[in-house]
Amino acid sequence: DHTTVGIVGGGPAGLLLARLLHNSGIDCVVLESRDRTYVEQRQRAGILEQSTVDVLRESGAGERLDREGMVHDGIELRWNRRAQRIDFPSLTGGRKVWVYAQTEVVKDLIALQVADGAPLLFEAQVNEVVGADTDRPVIHYTHQGQDRTLGCDYVVGCDGFHGVTRKAVPDGVMSAFERVYPYSWFGILADVPPSCDELIYAHSPRGFALHSMRSATVSRLYLQVPNGTDPADWPDDRIWDELDARFATDGDWRLERGPITSKAVLPMRSFVTEPMRWGRVFLAGDAAHIVPPTGAKGLNLAVSDVVVLARALAHLKDSGSTELLDEYSDTCLRRVWRAEHFSYFMTTTLHTDPGQSAFETRLQLSQLDRVSSSRHAAAELAENYAGLHIG
Ligand code: FAD
Ligand code: DHB
Repeated sequence: DHTTVGIVGGGPAGLLLARLLHNSGIDCVVLESRDRTYVEQRQRAGILEQSTVDVLRESGAGERLDREGMVHDGIELRWNRRAQRIDFPSLTGGRKVWVYAQTEVVKDLIALQVADGAPLLFEAQVNEVVGADTDRPVIHYTHQGQDRTLGCDYVVGCDGFHGVTRKAVPDGVMSAFERVYPYSWFGILADVPPSCDELIYAHSPRGFALHSMRSATVSRLYLQVPNGTDPADWPDDRIWDELDARFATDGDWRLERGPITSKAVLPMRSFVTEPMRWGRVFLAGDAAHIVPPTGAKGLNLAVSDVVVLARALAHLKDSGSTELLDEYSDTCLRRVWRAEHFSYFMTTTLHTDPGQSAFETRLQLSQLDRVSSSRHAAAELAENYAGLHIG
């Protein structure tokens, strides 16, 4: 078998790339190792930047997002029992964010692809990508118990951090930059209306906490916990008591409690590979870079990568020129490193490192005071959070 673009992985990056290529009349095939239900239920990100929403709408995947997504004009920061709202539109020239879960983005993209799109194979496990430096790279995969091959003009690894496509690049060609953090997030879903209209990011002496939401009736909350934490050690009352303590303010505010329906611990990491391309193999999304979740950037970066790549492949089809493809890695990495810095900044400003000194805590509090007292400092945060234009 042969296709123009072989896409490894059917997460947000792979599915959106397939949609954009289909819209440009470029053949592709998506190979996804898991089954459809698993991919559609996997709980992950919840915040879409303005430019991500623009792209989903333009691609034809914005209909339910416009109906059910919740537009947010800002976030609240809490520290020292104080609360400060950061208003995005007034600080960024009108940009906003949307609360619309990754599970829903993935469901919408799969439904479109199945109805009218390129082939999407579930339970198709890619074992190896070979020939990155030839004109015809080949994907080796197993589907329905049979070993198969797919010859491609180009292969795109959208297979996440633990994917296999990165291994198609010989040792020594790529550089990896990495940082791991001495804490994790404990995430819960609860059947209770959100206790706030906008997300709350809280710094506290007991550690970071985040109040987010999935709908008018479902709340999503996160607690900073030590690495290796076992959710079994956290009965529901302990979780709510800890959240109460970390969100405490002098203002009038109450955290509503409800039945907890899901609990999971997520480790945190910063990671970038450079370059994001070797020969005819490209990497996009988590396959190329990871951010800690505090800046809500992971899913949005996956989207901007595939927008840049789809544009470059369309340019090649229309003009015969590989100019934009050759710029792919540099174009993406500028945005990737900005998001890496912002995610690191949000993470290290809001979390308490177990070995942190009182001096370092004072620096964090000073930074939060600065954001609340300077329009420039607030605008810097707002611009990064609401997201830059894709360029
Ligand atoms: P993925 O979503 O990882 O998709 C990769 C796909 O490739 C998967 O479907 C996988 O099954 C498939 N695959 C892997 N290997 C193979 C193979 N060999 N053959 C075929 N298919 C393969 N971001 C936030 O902003 N906020 C959050 O709260 C948040 N929480 C997260 C929680 C977890 C546990 C994780 C892992 C990530 C989280 N993220 C979060 C990050 C965000 O979800 C990712 O950045 C986003 O999913 C990236 O999309 P992607 O398509 O690049 O990768
Ligand atoms: C959510 C996740 C994030 O990482 C974040 O910064 C904000 C919200 C969420 O899952 O809702």
